[in-house]
Amino acid sequence: MNLAGDDKKATVLGLGIETSCDETSVAVIENGRRILSNEIYSQIQEHAPFHGVVPEIASRSHLLKINPVYEAAMKQAGIQAEDLDYCAVTSRPGLTGSLMIGSQLARCLNMVHGLDLVTVDHIEAHMYAVFLEGKEPKYPFLGLLLSGGNSAIFRVQGPGQMELLGTTMDDALGEAFDKAASVLDLPYPGGPYVEKEGRMYAQKHASAPEEPALFPRILRDYPSDQIAFSFSGIKTAVLQAARKGEDPGRICYHFQKTSFELVTRMLDRAVARTGLQTVVASGGVLASSTLRETLQNCDGRYTILYPEDRKLCTDNAAMIGALGYRLWQLGVRDSLDFAVSSRR
Ligand code: KG4
Repeated sequence: MNLAGDDKKATVLGLGIETSCDETSVAVIENGRRILSNEIYSQIQEHAPFHGVVPEIASRSHLLKINPVYEAAMKQAGIQAEDLDYCAVTSRPGLTGSLMIGSQLARCLNMVHGLDLVTVDHIEAHMYAVFLEGKEPKYPFLGLLLSGGNSAIFRVQGPGQMELLGTTMDDALGEAFDKAASVLDLPYPGGPYVEKEGRMYAQKHASAPEEPALFPRILRDYPSDQIAFSFSGIKTAVLQAARKGEDPGRICYHFQKTSFELVTRMLDRAVARTGLQTVVASGGVLASSTLRETLQNCDGRYTILYPEDRKLCTDNAAMIGALGYRLWQLGVRDSLDFAVSSRR
């Protein structure tokens, strides 16, 4: 359906499809802002024994789940495929075999129901989760993504226009959380457990004076005008501390303190470099209340926006539909032979 001239519709309904990693998700979105459904099947339990995502298990699981998840999303929204205007699907970056499963559903919907296809960059889509909670940040703004696979800061100019300002030189922060948890015999994915242990430690020592850092400052000697992350060193430091018999709660507390200090330091640099003072943050690590509090505590240097609903921080199809809507409005229509890619 076309937005031009007389065809302009008051209500635009879009489908979002997400299968880039270990969540099979389908959502129905109204006017790019209202979630009518956001069905998510998480494969966490299937990957838990391996303490990380196994690509072959992921694609097989997507294949089994994609149809029931699609049907559940349509039922929840109370619509038929013919009611939809566009179908947005993650085509990059991600596990290639997994991306292909969601892409095939999108292709089928195009062939059978004639839906417009809009392929979406998963990383960029994380920046659009906040638009589903009534927030409308003005372009340009800064984007902070901290997830299991990415740690990066962007300048977001508009839909389809995102400039990378700095990324991780090695591991992502969520991955470091998962590795720290694994070293400390905590369940997978480790983020919430590391946070809980760290909080209990902080509460127990609340009346004691602030203790010296257990881990060295990350990227201490890195040029002060550069934006980057690195979490492989602290992963090793956690392992060494655990081997020395250090208290697990103390390790969790300091792991977060040191990692989050790097995040706020780099965010300050991005604000200074660009002059932008609105930061939209997302990704699984933003589910952390400790990180949310740390970012809120920025003394007015910037305004931080993140999805209140933790379900919108982690991988979901609603954010794919939200970015898809904005691209569709700009006239983006992809052809049936679109490619999937492990890279952006
Ligand atoms: O965005 P997401 O689903 O990542 C990718 O699949 O890339 O986020 C998953 C990551 C995991 O590494 C998990 O440990 C982390 O988000 N996470 C957290 C918390 N909850 C989830 N990290 C820190 N604190 C949390 N409370």
